[in-house]
Amino acid sequence: MDGMRAWSLCSLSPFLLFLALQVTWASVSVKVAPRVEVVKGQTAYLPCDVTGSDVLTAGWFFEVADKRTRVAFWSDKSSGVDETPMLGRVSMAANKTLIISSVQFEDEHNYTCQASAGAAGTAEGRTDLRIFYEPEEPEAVGSKNIISVFSRTYSEVGRCTARNGYPQPRIVWYKDSTPLPDVRNPTSGMYMIPSVVKESSGLYTVNSVLYMMPKKEDKDSKFHCIVVYSMPKEQGKQKSSGSFTLNLNYPMEHMTFSLVNTAPLKEGDEVKLKCETDGNPQPDFEFYKPGTPDRQSGPDGIFTLANVTRNDSGTYKCQFLDIDTIEDHSRSLTLSVNYLDPVVITPSKNITVKQGEGVNLQCKTSASAEYTLQWKTGSSELSNNGNLALSSVKYSNAGLYSCIAKVPSVPGLQKKADITLIVSGKPEIEEPVFGHVGKVGEEVTIMCSAHGYPAPQFTWTPSGRESVSVQDNKVISSVTLETTAAILKDGVTCEASNQHGSDTKVFLVNVKATEESANRGIPVFKSESQTQTGSSGVVIAVVVCVLILLIVVGMLYCLQKKGKLPCGEKKKKEVVSGEVNNDKVVVEMRPGEKASEDSELLNKPHAGQ
Ligand SMILES: *[C@@H]1O[C@H](CO)[C@@H](O)[C@H](O)[C@H]1NC(C)=O
Ligand SMILES: *[C@@H]1O[C@H](CO)[C@@H](O)[C@H](O)[C@H]1NC(C)=O
Ligand SMILES: *[C@@H]1O[C@H](CO)[C@@H](O)[C@H](O)[C@H]1NC(C)=O
Ligand SMILES: *[C@@H]1O[C@H](CO)[C@@H](O)[C@H](O)[C@H]1NC(C)=O
Ligand SMILES: *[C@@H]1O[C@H](CO)[C@@H](O)[C@H](O)[C@H]1NC(C)=O
Repeated sequence: MDGMRAWSLCSLSPFLLFLALQVTWASVSVKVAPRVEVVKGQTAYLPCDVTGSDVLTAGWFFEVADKRTRVAFWSDKSSGVDETPMLGRVSMAANKTLIISSVQFEDEHNYTCQASAGAAGTAEGRTDLRIFYEPEEPEAVGSKNIISVFSRTYSEVGRCTARNGYPQPRIVWYKDSTPLPDVRNPTSGMYMIPSVVKESSGLYTVNSVLYMMPKKEDKDSKFHCIVVYSMPKEQGKQKSSGSFTLNLNYPMEHMTFSLVNTAPLKEGDEVKLKCETDGNPQPDFEFYKPGTPDRQSGPDGIFTLANVTRNDSGTYKCQFLDIDTIEDHSRSLTLSVNYLDPVVITPSKNITVKQGEGVNLQCKTSASAEYTLQWKTGSSELSNNGNLALSSVKYSNAGLYSCIAKVPSVPGLQKKADITLIVSGKPEIEEPVFGHVGKVGEEVTIMCSAHGYPAPQFTWTPSGRESVSVQDNKVISSVTLETTAAILKDGVTCEASNQHGSDTKVFLVNVKATEESANRGIPVFKSESQTQTGSSGVVIAVVVCVLILLIVVGMLYCLQKKGKLPCGEKKKKEVVSGEVNNDKVVVEMRPGEKASEDSELLNKPHAGQ
């Protein structure tokens, strides 16, 4: 078929036209990627799919200003690369792919792959090679200058810089979260002046200066910028800068004078008063209390009163002169400092009350607000009305009493006074405890503890080394002496006396059985009813036991002889129980000792049989 036939067919049917073209170029065809994107420094692959029979040559060219320069070639006889700036980094694979390693910005061209089949014709395809490089995070810097909202000219408010991107990135300014339109001429109250620097590395650094005529509403606005750039297969990527606010001057509309403290004020508090306007900057304020000569200026509009008293209550003023309008502005504030006077107890001194008598204690105070009075001793509450009446006092009532005053409406406002109640009377000795010794002749220490006021004097019979100590409202006397037979028998007597009378108690001394002596079968005990000394008691006990043994053996014998005679089962227990009489204490014999002794004695005959 020839061209004329094809043209006439074309008007009849596009389908036929397609067929015609297929046939015309059937001998050689080239397929390339229209665009290849790669990051600088990486390897670019530019594929070229050549089809057709009898392809003789193929080559890759790049174009600069319509001028083609060959980079690499292939023919059925030879192949190679040409003398270009890419020499050394470029190669052409057997499948006709052009491979450029360590890609540079200078490599960014349109590349043409051309294939020829001699007389059968030629074919070519073009690839646009694009290089990318990611810019650094942008930096936004606010102007240090103070900008007045009254200014009629534009002021530079900030600069944004994004470094080292390729291709050239774009800067977008934001006010809070709103992007600002990219305005270049001053129309809508703001505009930007962009600039760009091409670094020697081939990278672009872009800059944008933002100009504004700010209004008061912009005082808290946060400004920042973003850089918008592309990467292979990714467009519209962004990086954001930090933000800044404007250094704005604007006039005040309102002035406030307030108390910084939140809790109700009380004496001793540190009080802070704050003066503020809604303008910027804050003026220099002056504080004073009308009627007093002092005038003070406080840094940052804060005025501090350290350790206030009720006398600091009253009205305070804060004032300043507006230098623009030559106008005086002032506000006042009234403070009220709560107080609580010291608590006074009647009687005022520590009080001594005779045992059995009554006493009335009163406590008083005054305060700026309603208060409570509470009597306490230890952790127990005794009264809630300031009066404390104690009737028929005992020694146990002696001690420290506190009256606590509180102003419930003012947290932390409380005061307290103490009084010590002394109960006087004749001494009372506490129940005695036994003294214990291992054996006669050892030293024993006995403690005698007595209530009583004035402090009792102690007399010990027999006497020994004595010492006295005071514990709470008790006096404790202790004596250390050597135990004698007489002491084991009669005990030691403690007598406590003062001007109101005296008290006497006998302290018995106990010989403590050690494990060793128990095993030896020697019963060691002491009782009031026994009249023997310790050692003779042991002899008697052994004799009694032998007698019992003889009786038991005799009975067993008589039972065997007569066969029916009942034998007595008395005398099984011999317990001396302790009792207290006449202020004397009697020791109870320990059942354990007795039992072991009994069994040991009873076992003997069985062992003998
Ligand atoms: C062509 O050959 C190169 C190197 O041998 C290989 O990396 C590439 O994937 C091939 N391309 C195609 C389209 O076959
Ligand atoms: C390749 O050619 C196209 C179309 O003429 C042009 O738009 C593009 O910028 C060129 N690419 C390069 C890298 O010069
Ligand atoms: C506060 O003032 C009172 C009475 O003037 C004084 O007793 C107290 O020590 C002062 N406290 C301090 C912390 O300055
Ligand atoms: C308050 O002022 C009065 C009279 O000037 C004075 O007597 C009193 O001591 C002052 N009170 C305190 C807590 O400073
Ligand atoms: C009251 O008694 C306590 C404790 O006994 C003592 O510390 C205090 O000094 C006494 N106060 C007076 C005023 O006698």
